[in-house]
Amino acid sequence: MRLDTTTNKRYAFWAAASASLFTLASAQSSATASIITPSRSLATPTVTASRSSSTAQAASSSSAVLLGPAVETTLTIYPSQLTAQTTYAPTTTSNTGASSVVAASTSIPSPTAALNTTVDEGILPRQQYLCAQGQNATYCPGELLQLVQLSGIYADSKTFVDKPTRYSLNETYFAFEQLTQKQNITVGDVVTFVEGYFQGEGLELVPAQIENFTTSPAFLDDVDDVVYQGFASVVHGYWTLLIRETNQSVICDGVKCDSSVIPLNNSVVVPGGRYREVYYWDSFWIMEGLLKSELYNYANDLLNNFMDLIDGYGFVPNGGRKYYLNRSQPPVFTLMVNAYILATGNTTVLERALPLLDAELEWWRVNRTISVTSPYTNKTHSVAHYAVNNTAPRPEGYVEDYKTVSGAQPALNTTERESLYAELASGAESGWDYSGRWSKQISYNKSDAYANLRKLNVRAIVPVDLNALLYADHVILANLYEVYMNSSMGGSSSGNSTNTTMMMNSTMSSSHNMTSKIAAHRMIASEMNAAILDLCWDPVKSWFYDFNTTAHARSPVYHAGGTFPLWHNITPPEIAHNETAALNVFQGLRFIAGTYAGAPNIATLLDTGLNWDFPNSWPPHAYTAIKAFEAIGRLYPNGTVLDQVVTTDFSLVPVGQFGLNQTQLPVQNASLVSRNTKTFRADLTAIQMGKPWWQGHVFEKFSLVDPDAAGGGGEYTVVIGFGWSNGVILHTAGEYGQYLVPPSCPLIQVVEANATTMGDSTTMMQGFRIPPAK
Ligand SMILES: *[C@@H]1O[C@H](CO)[C@@H](O)[C@H](O)[C@H]1NC(C)=O
Ligand SMILES: *[C@@H]1O[C@H](CO)[C@@H](O)[C@H](O)[C@H]1NC(C)=O
Ligand SMILES: *[C@@H]1O[C@H](CO)[C@@H](O)[C@H](O)[C@H]1NC(C)=O
Ligand SMILES: *[C@@H]1O[C@H](CO)[C@@H](O)[C@H](O)[C@H]1NC(C)=O
Ligand SMILES: *[C@@H]1O[C@H](CO)[C@@H](O)[C@H](O)[C@H]1NC(C)=O
Ligand SMILES: *[C@@H]1O[C@H](CO)[C@@H](O)[C@H](O)[C@H]1NC(C)=O
Ligand SMILES: *[C@@H]1O[C@H](CO)[C@@H](O)[C@H](O)[C@H]1NC(C)=O
Ligand SMILES: *[C@@H]1O[C@H](CO)[C@@H](O)[C@H](O)[C@H]1NC(C)=O
Ligand SMILES: *[C@@H]1O[C@H](CO)[C@@H](O)[C@H](O)[C@H]1NC(C)=O
Ligand SMILES: *[C@@H]1O[C@H](CO)[C@@H](O)[C@H](O)[C@H]1NC(C)=O
Ligand SMILES: *[C@@H]1O[C@H](CO)[C@@H](O)[C@H](O)[C@H]1NC(C)=O
Ligand SMILES: *[C@@H]1O[C@H](CO)[C@@H](O)[C@H](O)[C@H]1NC(C)=O
Repeated sequence: MRLDTTTNKRYAFWAAASASLFTLASAQSSATASIITPSRSLATPTVTASRSSSTAQAASSSSAVLLGPAVETTLTIYPSQLTAQTTYAPTTTSNTGASSVVAASTSIPSPTAALNTTVDEGILPRQQYLCAQGQNATYCPGELLQLVQLSGIYADSKTFVDKPTRYSLNETYFAFEQLTQKQNITVGDVVTFVEGYFQGEGLELVPAQIENFTTSPAFLDDVDDVVYQGFASVVHGYWTLLIRETNQSVICDGVKCDSSVIPLNNSVVVPGGRYREVYYWDSFWIMEGLLKSELYNYANDLLNNFMDLIDGYGFVPNGGRKYYLNRSQPPVFTLMVNAYILATGNTTVLERALPLLDAELEWWRVNRTISVTSPYTNKTHSVAHYAVNNTAPRPEGYVEDYKTVSGAQPALNTTERESLYAELASGAESGWDYSGRWSKQISYNKSDAYANLRKLNVRAIVPVDLNALLYADHVILANLYEVYMNSSMGGSSSGNSTNTTMMMNSTMSSSHNMTSKIAAHRMIASEMNAAILDLCWDPVKSWFYDFNTTAHARSPVYHAGGTFPLWHNITPPEIAHNETAALNVFQGLRFIAGTYAGAPNIATLLDTGLNWDFPNSWPPHAYTAIKAFEAIGRLYPNGTVLDQVVTTDFSLVPVGQFGLNQTQLPVQNASLVSRNTKTFRADLTAIQMGKPWWQGHVFEKFSLVDPDAAGGGGEYTVVIGFGWSNGVILHTAGEYGQYLVPPSCPLIQVVEANATTMGDSTTMMQGFRIPPAK
């Protein structure tokens, strides 16, 4: 590899290479094998696909079987043919490929219990009003929602809450009252009710007709390697599947029918799969990708949607559904506006954005801030935490939450139940749902998925990544005010935009007010910087940790969120002028990259079976690892110690940084490349689209024990698509395209064996991977 001579990239390039390696490998996992293994010629693969009609999610409803050595024929097609595949982008008005696969994901009930089984109506939570503003709605926790969800007629709790009613709420509840007159309500009764009174989900947002889509955005020219170039070009083409707009003609007006969707005025980019609406923190990485893909109008649309949401609700909700209105997600909107302006120079957005960015940060200050006195300095700080006011199961995770709470032993009383529901919703607000990071008492018993969930302590944790993001938001917002003043007051204008009259009429109203805003945001930022260094930075372990207000001490859990302060230039004094000390900070990351081939970061090293723990590695954290290295590149543009090697030995990781000794670390089992069984969902969407079988999928997360498989764990089937993964791939390709060297991967063979059926009737298949013949 060539070593970058420009400062930022000096240390970051190998993290980028590592990130790109795992995303590339993983993207191939379900359909293609080692497309980049050179010079071996094997038989043409045979592919058959069958459709299972009774699955819960259309996006994962096909099963496919790859027969025979399913590999090397793809070698010859790179990169020209791959690039050619992007022509399926809807440059015409016909968009059948995309919509048939992704949009109309209407499920039919697939109950796991016999239709004559009586539904256990369970313990009802207290009446909730939030998601319907005082009026009951079918997607808000209550008698109706609980009965439908506990009947288990859909494999995914999210399916029902995304279904609009067929008639008015009055008629729907009237029918429900009739139903509840029955003494024993059966699963079959619920199926009949839901099919009679609800419409299909996922029809309210439809693939947008994308205008001005370029198949060859400029960043592709900067990707030297042809395989990576072809790969990035394919991923670039995926936007056409994920950009959606509200289909105003089917949107419920709340009178004739009612729906959980929040109608948005502009197009959005959905993550994919069950995530069929806009999501808050996903959108930052999606934005980074859109900008590389030169889809500037869609980036602008995304910003305007979020501005509409802040206008309407005072904050950015978790996602584009009314049942998300009691919680937010990691606050990345300021970063999105900044990224957009950096890429386009269009400062006009600031005119609307500035007051709304201010409002969002104020929401975090008012609703999510607590006061903590440091045990280290006795100073008192205002810091943020995730804390959702909620006393019922999350509508979209109803069954899971209900079981978590009602299955606890000894049984919980009402106060305790409501508190655990608040914890579950707060975990979802963090984006990290769920992780041992939030657990009062970490359980490694993977056969009891509930053990950690019942010990959630999210609200008591001061998350280092959340606070670093808010710090960055205040710094950047102050800068954006300056940019706006300069561009609108005829100052050193770099932007295009407004005039003084316009600015005077705006809500900021005067430069004097703006100057004081700038000072106020810088003041808050400076206090947050001090708080993070005091509460979260551990000078001995050389890493940033959460602060746990229950223990009144830093949490010992090493996690990927520790990269956020580095990403945002929060620099501990110990490393500011000491390159060796700075190197210590990164020893953990270097060790991880060297030990768990395929990723430069890991959610945590806790092997709990939860979604945000080992072995899952998430694309946003590949991004933040790269950005952390870029920060150190800025600090030591002429460093010498840091240059040395890419990976490191455990003995060089500062004592205690991981909170685990070497023998306690989970391992990446080398034999996995030849292990004999691997079960995965073989969903070859590509086939349904008439695309070649070898076009794989991009997953939402990846597994470090098995770098070319999707990550596992969590409450739902691993999702393909996938917005933030695509965003990180495109951003990394654009920024580091000159330095990326493709990895050599072992040959992977997938054969049919023991096709099995999951509880939700989705056909699974067994496959195995074999090492290349010697
Ligand atoms: C449900 O139906 C099955 C088969 O029709 C029958 O064997 C079973 O006894 C029924 N159960 C109840 C609770 O009625
Ligand atoms: C909402 O549901 C509760 C309990 O099911 C009921 O008492 C209340 O009257 C309902 N409110 C409306 C507006 O339907
Ligand atoms: C509510 O629905 C019932 C049954 O369809 C009907 O009799 C009643 O008039 C409706 N009430 C209103 C206010 O629409
Ligand atoms: C309702 O179910 C219970 C127990 O499952 C049974 O004892 C009872 O007879 C049922 N009642 C009716 C009306 O079916
Ligand atoms: C596409 O390009 C045309 C001409 O430059 C422009 O008017 C239009 O706004 C663009 N549309 C989008 C969605 O970018
Ligand atoms: C945020 O705080 C304000 C003021 O206390 C309150 O009105 C609002 O409901 C809160 N919002 C949420 C989502 O908690
Ligand atoms: C710049 O942003 C404004 C405000 O969002 C928007 O109306 C305009 O179309 C953007 N300009 C370009 C060239 O995209
Ligand atoms: C904090 O205050 C307590 C009580 O006033 C004192 O005992 C302790 O030494 C102080 N700690 C530090 C770090 O200043
Ligand atoms: C939490 O929600 C309840 C209503 O569900 C409300 O009375 C209370 O004020 C809310 N608390 C906060 C802090 O927003
Ligand atoms: C619920 O249990 C907690 C202990 O976990 C106790 O402090 C509280 O008083 C109990 N509440 C009720 C209503 O019993
Ligand atoms: C300002 O806008 C004009 C026309 O809309 C465009 O030609 C020019 O390049 C823009 N300038 C900047 C700095 O974006
Ligand atoms: C400045 O903005 C105001 C308000 O939008 C507008 O009426 C006026 O024409 C603009 N002036 C110039 C020179 O663009």
